[in-house]
Order: sequence, then C-alpha cells, then structure tokens
Amino acid sequence: MADEEIERAGAIPIERLAVNGITQTDINRLGEFGLYTVESVAYTPKKHLLTIKGISEAKADKLLSEASKLVPLGFTTASDVHQTRSGLITLTTGSSQLDTLLGGGIETGAITEMFGEFRTGKSQLCHTLAVTCQLPIDQGGGEGKCLYIDTEGTFRPERLHQIARRYGLNGDEVLDNVAYARAHNSDHQMQLLQMAANMMTKSRFSCLIVDSIMALYRTDYAGRGELSARQTHVAKFMRTLQRLADEFGIAVVITNQVVAQVDGAVFNPDPKKPIGGNIVAHASTTRLYFKKGRGVQRICKIYDSPCLPESGCVFAIHEDGIGDPKDEE
Ligand SMILES: Nc1ncnc2c1ncn2[C@@H]1O[C@H](COP(=O)(O)OP(=O)(O)OP(=O)(O)O)[C@@H](O)[C@H]1O
Ligand SMILES: [Mg+2]
Repeated sequence: MADEEIERAGAIPIERLAVNGITQTDINRLGEFGLYTVESVAYTPKKHLLTIKGISEAKADKLLSEASKLVPLGFTTASDVHQTRSGLITLTTGSSQLDTLLGGGIETGAITEMFGEFRTGKSQLCHTLAVTCQLPIDQGGGEGKCLYIDTEGTFRPERLHQIARRYGLNGDEVLDNVAYARAHNSDHQMQLLQMAANMMTKSRFSCLIVDSIMALYRTDYAGRGELSARQTHVAKFMRTLQRLADEFGIAVVITNQVVAQVDGAVFNPDPKKPIGGNIVAHASTTRLYFKKGRGVQRICKIYDSPCLPESGCVFAIHEDGIGDPKDEE
C-alpha cells in the first residue's frame, strides 16, 4: 500500500522522521521498541524514548520535535472535533437494532468491550465484525482488513464463509483479509500487539479483535499475590490497544468474561461483573453487557459510554452471523 493511503488511514510512516541526523538505524531501533508511526513517537514520553538503545537525550529531543511538526498536539476547537467526529466510521454489527443502539455501530478509533456469560454471542459478534469491517464504508464497513487475536481457541473460519455469503462477498477473499493469531500466554498476547502495529503500517486494517482479553491472565496469574503484577501487565496491554486505536483509527473490540459479584449482591438484580477490574473498565470507551434471551435472542445493554444513554436492545444469533430477531423467533 502506498504511503499516502496509509496516511489517509490515520498513521504517518515513521520513515518520515529520518531527517536532520536521525538515521535509518535509529528508525529500526524505534521499530524494535514497537514504534512504527510518527504518531507513536509523538505520544511517547521522553523518558521512555531514552530507554531505547542508541537514543541519546539530544536524539530524543530531535525525534519529539520532528514528530510534533507532523502530528497536531495542541488544542483545537470543539467545532473541529465535531467535524472530525461527524466523519467517524462505525462498523455494522449485522443487527440494525444493535447498530441503532450504538449510534451507527462499533466505533473506530476506540475500544469497545463486550462482556457477558458464556454463549451470549460475544465470539459470534467478533466473527461478524471480522467480515463487516471489510465492507465498503457506505455499507457499514471500514474498508480494511481484520486482525484477530484468539486466546480461547474458539475462532471458526467456516463461520466467516457463512457470514461473507450474506454480504455477497467472496468467502476466500474475506478469509485472506483476516490475520489470525492464537495467543498462548499473556506475554505472547502482548507480543502479538507489537506485531499487529507493524502489520498496520503496511496495509489498511479497520478492526482488531481480542477474544477474550482476560482468559490467559486468569491462568498465568492465578495466585492472589500476583494480582498487582497481573494488573500492571493488563494496563500495559490496554494502553497498547488504545494507542493502536488512536494511531490507526481502527475499531478495537475486546471480549470479557464475568464473575459473580460478591459485594452488594443483595441489592444487585444481576450480580455479574466483568473481570479485569478498573483497568479494563477505564480503558474501554464503550462497554456492552450481553445477556441470554429466548432461543436465539440475546440482549445487549450499554453499560458505560461517553455519549450513549444506558439502554438496551434485542439481537439474534443466526447461521449467517449476528442479525435482528426474525418474526418467528
Ligand atoms: N452456525 C451457527 N448458527 C447459529 N447459531 C450459532 C452458530 N454457531 C454458534 N451459534 C450460537 O452461538 C452461541 C454461542 O455464542 P458465542 O460463541 O458467541 O458465545 P460467547 O459469548 O463467546 O461465550 P464464551 O464466553 O463461552 O466464549 C450458541 O448459543 C450457539 O448456539
Ligand atoms: Mg467466546
């Protein structure tokens, strides 16, 4: 993909910083550190840049000043923000009810968390989004590829074929546009994000899915004494996800499991809460709670959103992906 196409997608290739004494070797070192775009350099605190081998105080200053020439870091007006947001791309979930509830669909440039009990349709929605994110923008897509990180081994490519058919897409092409990785432990899950960043500089992705975010942490950090180490790791993972959403304008979608809530259970009509605590909660822009309904029906409730009211809707899981409930259902 040409440079200008990637810029249109929201990221400036890091090679643009190779000026005034910043060498290709420096650029390579930044890459090894997981920085592949001018934005990622501009958003990195200087003290972190200084931890990279070969980056001196003077070089860090130079990098930051060059990056700030290319990336706006100051104030802007609310009307500019409004203008930018009105052009914001959302990805269709496959259900018009759910899209309406979400104000168009799954937001790009942000993290959406879906949590709920088993069989509530979290992974099914991930599969649907892996297809719809490839659709043209005027059909509710993001005109980009999908990156799918699977921590539970529940990814089923044959589902994508079924969903692709519904949208009149070529199943094999749809599958080719999904970069899939099975994560085996929480460190590996983190490494995959670094690789993802590199891939996103090379071609246009519109969606990154992590299904599910906490599963490996639960096994890797089992003891109570490990909770703080776990949360530090989760925080870093969430920060990286946020950076990818910001830099590449992609929709980041994560799923989460729930545990029974012990505190205040007497007054709580539905005593379930997502795991991962405040760290996952605060880093997610929009949080959706999925519940079982009758038969193939599922209920989605907006749990936390910066601009959507706390309301809900009913959707359904079909052979060809997430959709609206049919009359006979
Ligand atoms: N091909 C299909 N056609 C219709 N429904 C399907 C199909 N495949 C799976 N389902 C339905 O999807 C549901 C499972 O949803 P999903 O796998 O998304 O659950 P989940 O929320 O990810 O659960 P977990 O927490 O266990 O990962 C089941 O009720 C199943 O009947
Ligand atoms: Mg699942």
